[in-house]
Amino acid sequence: MKQSEEKIEIEELLNELLGDESLEAQRDTSIGILEPIDDESSDELMKQLLYIPKSTLTAGQVLNLLRRMLREMNPVYIDLAERTAFCAVKIYDYARVKNKMNLNIDRNALILLSVLFTIGSYKPEFNMKDDNDEVHSCPRKMFLYSYLYLKHLSPLKDIAEAILFYNCDWKKAKELQSPYGEYASLIFTCMRICIQLRKNHYVYTKRLFTQDFIDNCRKLYDPVFLDLFLEPELTQAITKELKNNNSFYLLDEYCNSVQIDYEETFSLLKMMLYAVDFISTSTVTHIISTAFYATEIAKLEKLTDSETDEVFTAAILHDMGKMSIDIEILESAGCLTDEQMQKMREHVKKGDEMYRGIVGNKLSDIASRHHENLDGSGYPHGLKGDELTTQQRILSIADVFSALTDARTYKPSYPKEKTINIMEDMVSKNKFDPVILNHVKAQYDLIKAHTEIRRPMLTANLGLVVLDYMRLEDIEDISDLFEAIHNG
Ligand SMILES: [Fe+2]
Ligand SMILES: [Fe+2]
Repeated sequence: MKQSEEKIEIEELLNELLGDESLEAQRDTSIGILEPIDDESSDELMKQLLYIPKSTLTAGQVLNLLRRMLREMNPVYIDLAERTAFCAVKIYDYARVKNKMNLNIDRNALILLSVLFTIGSYKPEFNMKDDNDEVHSCPRKMFLYSYLYLKHLSPLKDIAEAILFYNCDWKKAKELQSPYGEYASLIFTCMRICIQLRKNHYVYTKRLFTQDFIDNCRKLYDPVFLDLFLEPELTQAITKELKNNNSFYLLDEYCNSVQIDYEETFSLLKMMLYAVDFISTSTVTHIISTAFYATEIAKLEKLTDSETDEVFTAAILHDMGKMSIDIEILESAGCLTDEQMQKMREHVKKGDEMYRGIVGNKLSDIASRHHENLDGSGYPHGLKGDELTTQQRILSIADVFSALTDARTYKPSYPKEKTINIMEDMVSKNKFDPVILNHVKAQYDLIKAHTEIRRPMLTANLGLVVLDYMRLEDIEDISDLFEAIHNG
């Protein structure tokens, strides 16, 4: 949906939900800190609060953040996916420069797909490894899940079909008239190459690539890619970078070169957010609430559009570090012990390590100071008063607002009065900015209502992935699978 259409829809929904009485309600709930609202300024306030936030991240930043997050979840799988992606792009670039072939492959799509083709493997149900920790033994079902995940939740809607050709004769893609067979051949050939090279710590020897290996690979995947890799110039270039781990830095650059439009980038960002769901559903819900509460509060504080977008984006990042926290602590239904609380607090530092080098200091400071308090009692740095900017104070209030008003594994959703009492208590202890909190109190209902209306903007339909997966998981034959996908 385009932003303009989304805005009209949000306005219609808002009118329906609040009706004309909403503005009266705003006046009634005003506690005198806000200026009296006349018709003109109330229109202005509504306009401000209806602002549709935008992410300030580029596709490359999202992709690199996602890689770091996936590394926290399963370093073995992301390691292989990243090496595969590096190898695939190197072969693609080499073929292009040397005019070796007419590739029907888009470089942007290749980078995205080769980093994400094992995305299903981060779901705990698919974390199956063989005795040697080899990812090639992952079941066909993991690749089906990966395909559905990318089809429904990422900008790779059509191209993701390539993943279905895992361990499948490459000529089948032509037979089934899939235009994405080359992606499959290139990516899966590179995956096999990397698995083979890993056995010898990425040092190339002819013995690693036995005739059996070559014949097998050529039978399954278009041999042109393996033949290109085996050209000494390219073999040497690829193995050198894989061996010294420079491939990861080069992949950062490849990811930063990805050019897709804003809608596609936002879709990728949502996918990153939903990757958190592999570990913790309540964390996804909390991030979404916090991002919209922060947007509302930013507009109440009359922040500019770009400042509001920064707060919104930082809110999406703020709890990324929770991906490195043990699931038992993250989803604990009871109170945490002191030791567990100490570990939980590390999510801020871990998150900062993930995003600072990618998104820059301003966004990182907003995201990583959400547990700091004005009186210096917060963490991780115990910053005080003026050391905390308005954007940082807003995110810290939005974070607590979400924690109190949303249901968690360890508590129900708190009603308005209780939420306000707790937050007022925190103001009295000089933890929160009193002016911002007064504004939040005055517009409590509107903040909640707007957030519910906006929530779909960041919500992804995981149900579609699950439903399709249940429908397709037992179909083993690729032709039947294609029939079921395209005609089902
Ligand atoms: Fe947090
Ligand atoms: Fe949080």
